[in-house]
Amino acid sequence: MSTPFAVDLIDIWKRFPGVVANAGATLQVKQGSIHAVLGENGAGKSTLMNVLAGMYRPDSGEIRIGGSQFWFRSPSDALAAGIGMVHQEFKLVPSFTVAENVVLGSADRIIRRSSIESQVEALAKQFGLNIDPARPVWQLSMGERQRVEILKTLWRNAQILIMDEPTAVLTPGEAEELGSVLREMANTGRSVIFISHKLHEVKEFSDEATVLREGKTVAASLRVEDTDTSKLAGLMVGSSPVTTDRPPDREHGPSLLEVRGLEALDDRYLSAVRDFNLDVHSGEIVGIAGVSGNGQRELAQAIAGLRPVKSGTITINGDDLTHALPVERFRAGLGYVPEDRLGVGLAPRLSVIENAILRNYKQLRQGPLLVEEKMSTYCEDIVNKFGVRTGPLNEPIAGLSGGNLQRLLVGRELSGEPKVLVAAQPTRGLDVQGVKAIQDLLVAERAAGVAVLLISEDLDELLTLSDRLLVMHSGKIVGEFDPVNAERQDIGAAMAGGAQG
Ligand SMILES: Nc1ncnc2c1ncn2[C@@H]1O[C@H](COP(=O)(O)OP(=O)(O)OP(=O)(O)O)[C@@H](O)[C@H]1O
Ligand SMILES: [Mg+2]
Repeated sequence: MSTPFAVDLIDIWKRFPGVVANAGATLQVKQGSIHAVLGENGAGKSTLMNVLAGMYRPDSGEIRIGGSQFWFRSPSDALAAGIGMVHQEFKLVPSFTVAENVVLGSADRIIRRSSIESQVEALAKQFGLNIDPARPVWQLSMGERQRVEILKTLWRNAQILIMDEPTAVLTPGEAEELGSVLREMANTGRSVIFISHKLHEVKEFSDEATVLREGKTVAASLRVEDTDTSKLAGLMVGSSPVTTDRPPDREHGPSLLEVRGLEALDDRYLSAVRDFNLDVHSGEIVGIAGVSGNGQRELAQAIAGLRPVKSGTITINGDDLTHALPVERFRAGLGYVPEDRLGVGLAPRLSVIENAILRNYKQLRQGPLLVEEKMSTYCEDIVNKFGVRTGPLNEPIAGLSGGNLQRLLVGRELSGEPKVLVAAQPTRGLDVQGVKAIQDLLVAERAAGVAVLLISEDLDELLTLSDRLLVMHSGKIVGEFDPVNAERQDIGAAMAGGAQG
């Protein structure tokens, strides 16, 4: 007899109002292996993982763990069966320390506070997770927060770790590190299932891959060694992959976004952006490259009015808006796509319609009242134009897949017909088609004369789309490059804080 699979999901069905998220999906994961789950936005990956982790009960289908059948009624049932999940959006208590977050809620182990830290530290060491157990979570980078989430599952002795798009929030260096942590877990006999849209990572990190399309498994347990990224991409979309071409050169108009001598602070009140000067012209895409955590986030937030400016000025379309409210900036022609979709960009408990009109409700008013019909038409336009896959529009957006949330957000911001668009990581977490759709939108905005500031961790994206490329390090611009002729090594050196372009 052969050894049973660590995880065996058989013919899983899961419906939500108006959507079939899983339509007979299967997944078989071997013990001690790293298994990638692939598929386009909305293919049903997160849903299937939530079924496995006990968050959702499937309408039908079978869950086998190590050969035995299970019915999970809650995540704690799944955890008892050895299954731990790290979600796309982290669930940590910001004011608690790393160690406190790790042990929080695991009532089965009562230990003295003083020894918690050293035990958490030992566990972290064992798997090569680099983290200080005494630091409060609010001070941590996204990569560090993720390590806390992983530690939480290890602390609870998970034998099967599920990670939903773990590298979407990581820098290339952090992603490498995660790869070796996952390998270490597999080496200790655990199984890792991870969702990713980045095919080169799938190739690099995983042993096997399963591809979902429209809720069904279209390729099961492919040996990653024997496949290549274009084959995987083809399986995901059911046709050959798409790429974005460099848009043709065009004349720039007047400068629409001017930043002069900007200083902005981070959440620890340290200066995150310093001596920052920037001009973005009408019809121009200026790209900002850099390792995340070098002030990009704070720069975008300062321009959007979500972070106070310590000194310097921000001018949008000729108006000094340095200290203006976000809504005043929106009216002055600023569109803003934040990197933190569910924190800043969208309100999870509000409906698709409410989220769609959040910025632009003034237009839809008649006297003091919002006109319901206008609201839903406005929302439908966005949903259709930007290809948002959603159930009923009056349901909360919490159920939308990551990629569909992003489309809704970008759609909303572009519907305000901005003159200046600040886009922070706009294609993060999107599938191949989704990336292309958003990139095409940015190029179209440029052609329409919008001044676009594109902040991205994807160097290929920046090199393809930008008219000028700036590199940020320690809150400053440390290099400016011509994307057509620049050498990657030179850009990389600037990102590391080295040579000037
Ligand atoms: N709780 C929910 N309520 C309603 N609809 C949902 C819910 N969860 C998922 N859906 C819908 O089910 C479909 C599959 O979503 P899922 O989140 O599983 O996709 P995904 O493959 O993880 O996509 P992405 O790559 O964008 O994260 C989508 O159409 C989504 O809108
Ligand atoms: Mg998902």
